[in-house]
Amino acid sequence: MSNPIIELEDRYCAHNYHPLPVVLVKGDGPYVWDDGGQRYLDMMSAYSAVSHGHAHPRLVRRLTEQAATLNIVSRAFHTDKLGPFLEMACEISGMDAALPMNTGAEAVETAMKAARKWAYTVKGVPEDRAEIIACQGNFHGRTIAIIGMSSEAQYRDGFGPFPGGLGLIPYGDTAALEKAITPHTAALIVEPIQGEGGIVIPPAGYLARCAEICRAHDVLLICDEVQTGLGRTGRMFAFEHDNVRPDGLILGKALGGGILPVSMFLGRREVMDVFKPGDHGSTFGGNPLAAAIGLEALKILVEEDLPARSADNGAWLLDRLRSIDSPLVREIRGRGLFIGIDIDPERATAREVCERLMTKGLLSKETHETVVRLAPPLAVDRETLAWAADQIEEVLGEMSAVGKPSSTAA
Ligand SMILES: Cc1ncc(COP(=O)(O)O)c(C=O)c1O
Repeated sequence: MSNPIIELEDRYCAHNYHPLPVVLVKGDGPYVWDDGGQRYLDMMSAYSAVSHGHAHPRLVRRLTEQAATLNIVSRAFHTDKLGPFLEMACEISGMDAALPMNTGAEAVETAMKAARKWAYTVKGVPEDRAEIIACQGNFHGRTIAIIGMSSEAQYRDGFGPFPGGLGLIPYGDTAALEKAITPHTAALIVEPIQGEGGIVIPPAGYLARCAEICRAHDVLLICDEVQTGLGRTGRMFAFEHDNVRPDGLILGKALGGGILPVSMFLGRREVMDVFKPGDHGSTFGGNPLAAAIGLEALKILVEEDLPARSADNGAWLLDRLRSIDSPLVREIRGRGLFIGIDIDPERATAREVCERLMTKGLLSKETHETVVRLAPPLAVDRETLAWAADQIEEVLGEMSAVGKPSSTAA
């Protein structure tokens, strides 16, 4: 069925995404509405950027107050908003200082630059020899340097050459980490749970062992918590599950309260002190509007106890979904409200499951061809999740009943 709004977007927008065929016009809490007035439960939350729910009243109020006061001045000047925002981010994460940016990829690039400069100025790595280790299956964003450490052929194809000094090891494999480290290694950049990679949870104690190995070899442990951070996995930060304190931390997505792009790289003092005036920057990073929203977003996470709600409701939803007996499902895994349903590619694609869920009023999005990702706003209630689980059970039941769809088998 053709929709002129979709046709217009299709005509003028680059085809770098393959959206579900729905036009959203409004959001409130865990729900969004399409142009025909149909309501959907948002189980994707803009890749976890909408952890606070759509149009959280406190954030909308803060946004409008600050927008009427002061928005963008650049960091050529001080503002009264940046300090309090970074102070709270450092206090809740145990980091000493932070560098504000806008998107996740920019904060990852900032971490890579910090790691390299730390290697040269603190560790004593010879000029231009610093190495950064990342993990196979990672997703850290889309810039040239970042895709230079991607193991996903499609993300790289046609975009080379890439910078040197970037190495890959298997995710979850600490022996491989120990083997890959050389005297020139600056940092390991790792997601505590791989999100875009398919909600991949490493073996228990993985991050703790990585921290030990990194410490023993004078290598920085940098956690990319752009997706797992700020309550998504049932703790404020996913590194807390392993009781580690990384040397560097990357935050984005939910830091902007589902309203603005707000990101940052945080680190130990020794790491952040490598930056001198003029070394790095961003016109918009740390602007007063973003800082006001970021601070309010952090306060809401703490005051509404969203990490604990994510832990409780996530554990419940995981159990409920695991009780569904379907031949389509290979595995259901997750932590907090960060759950993946791994679909058997011999029987269906994850996209087909998402399309069917959409017709029942539940929005999600596949990651790779096989995983349906579930990451609703963190304040979503149990009753709503029970309804969502019923829809998922129904869709899986209907798809099992029709048998193996030849057109969608991978
Ligand atoms: C772990 C992780 N790092 C970085 C990014 C990049 O963030 P952005 O899309 O805001 O550049 C993402 C986005 O999905 C992510 O999941």
